[in-house]
Amino acid sequence: MRTHWREVALLATLAGVLGCAPTTDPPSLADHRLDDPPPALSHRPGAAGIGDPDFPTDGNGGYDVSHYGLVVDYVPATKQLKGVTTIKAAATQGLSRFNLDLAGLKVSGVRVDGAAAEFSRNGDELTVTPAEPIDVRSRFTVKVTYAGVPQAEKDSANLGTYGFVPTPDGAFVASEPDGSKTWFPNNDHPADKATYDFKITVPAGVTALANGELVGKPTTAGGKTTYHWRERHPMASYLATATMGKFDLREGRTPGGIPETAAVDPRFKSALDKLYTVSGEVTDYWSKVFGPYPFSSTGGIVDDFAAGYALENQTKPLYGGFAPDASIIAHELAHQWFGDSLTIRRWKDLWLNEGFATYAEWLWSEHKGKRTAKAIFDELHAQPATSPIWAYPPGRALPHDLFNMSVYTRGAMTLQALRDAIGDTTFFKLLQDWTAAHRYGHVTTDEFIALAERLSGKDLSKLFDAWLFQPTRPA
Ligand code: ARG
Ligand code: ZN
Repeated sequence: MRTHWREVALLATLAGVLGCAPTTDPPSLADHRLDDPPPALSHRPGAAGIGDPDFPTDGNGGYDVSHYGLVVDYVPATKQLKGVTTIKAAATQGLSRFNLDLAGLKVSGVRVDGAAAEFSRNGDELTVTPAEPIDVRSRFTVKVTYAGVPQAEKDSANLGTYGFVPTPDGAFVASEPDGSKTWFPNNDHPADKATYDFKITVPAGVTALANGELVGKPTTAGGKTTYHWRERHPMASYLATATMGKFDLREGRTPGGIPETAAVDPRFKSALDKLYTVSGEVTDYWSKVFGPYPFSSTGGIVDDFAAGYALENQTKPLYGGFAPDASIIAHELAHQWFGDSLTIRRWKDLWLNEGFATYAEWLWSEHKGKRTAKAIFDELHAQPATSPIWAYPPGRALPHDLFNMSVYTRGAMTLQALRDAIGDTTFFKLLQDWTAAHRYGHVTTDEFIALAERLSGKDLSKLFDAWLFQPTRPA
């Protein structure tokens, strides 16, 4: 699902035809160009990347996924995963073949619309050649059967360990930025969102937790239990989880009435009630500040893998080996709006996720009568001009240093500088209008700046340039 995708391409093309500068970035991520040859003549291979210049092989070109049906059987004792992934997609160009992203694991068969297809592997690319080429704009179904021992992504510069990470009793699954390919074949880039069904089979006694809500009760037969979870709102692949293990659960509704599931590894038993209570309170509070909660349930998971980070997995943020405090719960749940409902098209815009979620931590502090966002901003702004935060402009996150502190902290400072410039009333209306205008869709930095300027009636180009794009401390 790529919201507004073709609209953007059309506008940019029109702007080009009319000789005016496009107001959006050129549509380099668009799959089908208006000057493509007519469909009948134009079956050609889909690109091996979706078009994000910073992550050239992430995602793929030529199609748009609407739904993933994942069937996963996992045995913690042997770390063996068996999977069948059914992908519903629409072709955005005529396709002679196309790629999926998949790292490791052995593929035993691929079918396209029920017919056996040829496939080959090259690095993390799975190339599928259907028996019949696929016409532009037609819908098709791909079924991939695979198995093996998933290998998490590890030690890459500053990302730590991510993807499908085995734990003694199950698995910790946190995939930002591109670790979903370690456990199922997919279009592994946030520019293509889709809905998901997860059917996860584990040994009886093990709990499997995925995004969204349970469909029916888990069923047990032959010593195995199958959980069916459904995420019915569009989701980026990096937010998909199938976290498994022994868990203590608390389920119910937030005071505001949103269904909630909190789960903790038994080692964090004493953290369960706080996780449940604070997550409920935060979800309800952000629903007032940022606009209606975008999804059908909320909650959180604490697992016993010491990832050194948390991840805002849609509807169920995952905390890696620590009992979260209210501040980080406020951060991960703010991401449900900023990152999950409103999703970046390119990783360089990551401050739209991390700057907003960090600013939410400051808003939570302010809400609780502790330090105001302004006081936190002032203290950070007083850092010496030599602080590395000023050398790294957060408006363009670097692929080799994606989660740099500047993207978080200076990103959040950008929002405080904006709030100072346009006033509280306009600032908080902007946050609500922003989440409403792009709910379940995609966003860019330019779109945020344009909305801020429209609502405030001010030229904010100098402010955003200084805060987001200059390698120096803004005045
Ligand atoms: N988005 C996460 C957060 O809320 C950070 C994820 C870090 N990912 C990683 N592979 N280290 O801050
Ligand atoms: Zn974050």
